[in-house]
Amino acid sequence: MEKHVHQFSYEVYDSAEALALADAELLKKARLVTSDAYAPYSRFRVGAAARLENGQVVTGTNQENASFPAGICAERVLMSAASSFYPGIPIDTLAISYFNEQGPSENPISPCGICRQSLQEFEQRAGRPIRLILGGQQGTVYIIPQASSLLPLAFTADELE
Ligand code: THU
Repeated sequence: MEKHVHQFSYEVYDSAEALALADAELLKKARLVTSDAYAPYSRFRVGAAARLENGQVVTGTNQENASFPAGICAERVLMSAASSFYPGIPIDTLAISYFNEQGPSENPISPCGICRQSLQEFEQRAGRPIRLILGGQQGTVYIIPQASSLLPLAFTADELE
């Protein structure tokens, strides 16, 4: 028997003011676009903004539906937009924020399981890591160097070969 340990490290900042300028700008964009979310059911508006390797910025927001499972998270809306408008261009950094209509938006949220799966494959296709910046409308910010580190032992395209 062997024991394998999976670990990852991430950075914790007190607020966006402590970030490098480019990172602070991307998080600001993610915070702003929460107003584009369509979230009448959860009232939890998620905004995502990514800087691509070519410097372009792409955004995404959660888009819900009366048939609840048909709703899509901000992260996957963003990845679809990036792949459609800039096919083949890797994502360098992805900021995720939210606005909770029913309470404070002060702590970072991190991507749901389905989004982790999609982020993992986006990284694999692009052959480079996606940095994540996670933060609410204010307060603590996390920077995670590689999105796929949130999904240890992922089921990947390699398994299908
Ligand atoms: N949601 C996202 O868009 N991204 C996440 O990382 C977590 C959850 C959305 C899905 C749903 O529209 C609402 O937030 C509440 O779960």
